[in-house]
Amino acid sequence: MRRVLCAATLAACLMNAAHSEEPAFAQRPETQPQSIGALSDMMISILHRHAILWMAGVSNNWPLADYEARQLKTRFMEAAQVYRNIPVETVTAATKALDDLSAAISTRNKAQFTPRFLELTRSCNACHVSAGVGFVVIETPRTSPFTNQAFAPATK
Ligand code: HEC
Repeated sequence: MRRVLCAATLAACLMNAAHSEEPAFAQRPETQPQSIGALSDMMISILHRHAILWMAGVSNNWPLADYEARQLKTRFMEAAQVYRNIPVETVTAATKALDDLSAAISTRNKAQFTPRFLELTRSCNACHVSAGVGFVVIETPRTSPFTNQAFAPATK
């Protein structure tokens, strides 16, 4: 019963699902909004934002980091509507890691930024393993994949 409810309103029940007595799984709702695209395409967008977020943080561009963290949260919420057979715990762990990173960004805490970014990356990979796509391995970007975007804070 709980699973059915979670499938219908997964994004809404992300926060308390971790405390459920029986294992909860993230399943695709029976009716999916037409505006929602393929999960793999969302993940490519998430991959790009993960890279931009890192570049913004290490460049001390906090407004950009904050913007990208919000974008990533929105993509996570969209993706949560199309997951199938993924334990809800892995979804909530990723959301929490992103929220913790956002908190570091909003206080411009560079010392917390790196470990929390690593925790977010770990949560990406933990979900990939539990979703059966453990061959998709995410890591800290070594350089920016975007040569057409400047990451230094804009000068006035
Ligand atoms: C709660 C589960 C979950 C989380 C969290 C998650 N992913 Fe994924 N990811 C998936 C699933 C499931 C797939 C396979 C999608 C498919 O093939 O339909 C996937 C696939 C991918 C792919 C391969 C897409 C392709 O078409 O080649 C990339 C890249 C990716 N994820 C990046 C990320 C990054 C970066 C993060 C963290 C910031 C992340 N993912 C977090 C579940 C997750």
